Amino acid sequence: GTIRHYHFDIRYRNVTRLCHTKSVITVNGQFPGPRIVAREGDRLIIKVVNHVKNNISIHWHGIRQLQSGWFDGPAYVTQCPIQIGQSYVYNYTIKGQRGTLFWHAHISWLRSTIYGPLIILPKHTTQYPFAKPHKEVPIIFGEWWNTDTEAVITQALQTGGGPNVSDAYTINGLPGPLYNCSAKDTYKLKVKAGKTYLLRLINAALNDELFFSIANHTLEVVEADAVYVKPFMTNTILIAPGQTTNVLLKTKALYPNAAFLMTARPYVTGQGTFDNSTVAGTLEYKVPSRTQNSSASFKNLPLFQPILPALNDTSFATKFANKLHSLANAEFPANVPQTVDKHFLFTISLGTSPCQKNQTCQGPTNGTKFAASVNNVSFTLPTTALLQSHFFGQSNGIYSPNFPISPLIPFNYTGTPPNNTMVNNGTKVVVLPFNTSVELIMQDTSILGAESHPLHLHGFNFFVVGQGFGNFDPNKDPSNFNLVDPVERNTIGVPSGGWVAIRFLADNPGVWFMHCHLEVHTSWGLRMAWVVLDGNLPNQKLLPPPPDLPNC
Ligand code: C2O
Repeated sequence: GTIRHYHFDIRYRNVTRLCHTKSVITVNGQFPGPRIVAREGDRLIIKVVNHVKNNISIHWHGIRQLQSGWFDGPAYVTQCPIQIGQSYVYNYTIKGQRGTLFWHAHISWLRSTIYGPLIILPKHTTQYPFAKPHKEVPIIFGEWWNTDTEAVITQALQTGGGPNVSDAYTINGLPGPLYNCSAKDTYKLKVKAGKTYLLRLINAALNDELFFSIANHTLEVVEADAVYVKPFMTNTILIAPGQTTNVLLKTKALYPNAAFLMTARPYVTGQGTFDNSTVAGTLEYKVPSRTQNSSASFKNLPLFQPILPALNDTSFATKFANKLHSLANAEFPANVPQTVDKHFLFTISLGTSPCQKNQTCQGPTNGTKFAASVNNVSFTLPTTALLQSHFFGQSNGIYSPNFPISPLIPFNYTGTPPNNTMVNNGTKVVVLPFNTSVELIMQDTSILGAESHPLHLHGFNFFVVGQGFGNFDPNKDPSNFNLVDPVERNTIGVPSGGWVAIRFLADNPGVWFMHCHLEVHTSWGLRMAWVVLDGNLPNQKLLPPPPDLPNC
């Protein structure tokens, strides 16, 4: 492979959206950040230099980091943050992966402005399992707050009333014409008639799962989380924060006498505060023979707007999830673990005040407001990096290896759902021997919850072998698991009022974070970590840390 060098200067820059100008933290002054393009087998060397007043770390979301966990990025998990005025060189090889991923800051809420596409092309010797597209276009969804997002997180942690919602969603950093004072900040995709475009969709939003559609056009889904899927046609995509989806867009054969909006807005199943607004970009056909500029001609054309599913269309969400299957063919096999060494059942909980009698309710506000937890543990980040503590054998006082393998309070939807299940703060991990085959059931407990929880696992792809609503039934549900062609991904929505079952092989030594990719839920404690021990062979061991690994 090739060695590719990038330089990320973390600096302030004034950015104006919706007529509000604020200083935002950027990479190289770009918002959204620069696009990284590499090929499978390449080595990426990215020097990150911190010129701002916040500590920083960068995560390469979905990159497996085989043996190279020091470069994964989550602050206080695999590294101490890069402090003010310091730098750190991320240096890793992309092994056995190709497709659309993204990178983002992984400390506090800095990923609100620090994110960008990470595109891994197939090796020169291999091809896409579909015809080569005319052009490839990254489309990255984000959110915009008129106020400082650090103030938003403080508010979310302290008031317990849910975070201040964003003021707009964005496509490639632009809110689009459906917001006030925003028409000039519209993403425009200019296309030719009769061509196929590969759209690389990335949901980098902090807090919302999104529907996405292009008026009068059908999309063919071909990849999810940088793994090819069996192709299927759809008018609408559902994409959770942390997920990526590649779709093929075939443009109309003839230049149409119309212009088309592409829009995205949230999928939310319950009550709560969220931004119920719509970001729009335009799909514009280039007029081949006219000399006038195309946006002038665009203005006079009839404009079509897509019809997105209703805000709470769970039936669409379920159908969409069920359409995703891995290719599972000779060239792209699905290596689903057929046997299981260790079974886990995790309850995924969001609790509200007040605490119930006889329960301890800790969490970020010590039980007075919100706590989010996995198996009743609201995960507290340590003051030094877990991976360092693990590698140097100094876990004492930093973390304990006793993360519960099943919930402390058995959960049952048939009873009255507990308002705030017993929650204790802790820095607890699961320790897995190398090559453990894991089955993990994630059971959502908040029947009244407003949204599904996109759980993201670092260091691995997993197979989604089953999902359902209500209580997971260990005597019945496993017989329906798909062990043949389940979708393989790194982020999966645990449905509100339901469960998902995943399997993965713990073949990557290191410390791997798992958390809800809704930023506010992560902050409230919906996170935990797996420690995977070294295997016996040299290529089964975590490599030593680089000399410039930051200290806390
Ligand atoms: Cu994209 Cu731990 O995150």
